[in-house]
Amino acid sequence: MPAAKAPEDAYTAAPFVPEGADLAALRRAAARCRGCPLHAPATQTVFGAGTADARVMLVGEQPGDQEDRQGEPFVGPAGRLLDRALAEAGLDPAEAYVTNAVKHFKFTQTEPRKRRIHKAPSLREAAACAPWLAAELALVEPELIVVLGATAGKALLGPSFRVGEARGTVLEREIHGRPERLVPTVHPSSVLRARDEDRRAAYEGLVADLQVAAQALA
Ligand code: URA
Repeated sequence: MPAAKAPEDAYTAAPFVPEGADLAALRRAAARCRGCPLHAPATQTVFGAGTADARVMLVGEQPGDQEDRQGEPFVGPAGRLLDRALAEAGLDPAEAYVTNAVKHFKFTQTEPRKRRIHKAPSLREAAACAPWLAAELALVEPELIVVLGATAGKALLGPSFRVGEARGTVLEREIHGRPERLVPTVHPSSVLRARDEDRRAAYEGLVADLQVAAQALA
């Protein structure tokens, strides 16, 4: 008989997160996370990148195809666009701690050698992964969190979060028991997906939101 599948609300990374670990130990532990089924088809866990003294934490949705292959967040097309927008807004991408709400790439693939198509993680999968993000927040203690898109927003601010309502403003909320300041904005992939005639405005909107973040850190 095949092994029974855990119900979705039983998914959690909590037992895999070591107590008292530094970022390097967390990253090693995350590589072995089996808290939800997303680990199985993914190449590897993509943990956050950056140092514990970063002043700003950027939180995306989940690794994409390139990130899954390389093991680093935001190293594909969305990451390149994000780096450009950050620099234009006056934020140094190299000084940020960059991570995702979900640490494994979720995708569909019709045949083994066909392109892997990104699939948005469910709220349950994001909730299962939340102990990793909580541990990263507790260690980095960023002065500001930049929330990139709806999945990160829902993971940090709750399921009623809407990017359009909150983007480009500084929010103050208690998150995982700590008072945090957050600036939500769109996900950089949404700029890449925008119609040709809308892409410039979408990009400029992202830069304007990131400028709010830069000012909040000044
Ligand atoms: N999109 C994300 O949300 N995160 C990544 O790391 C890459 C693309």
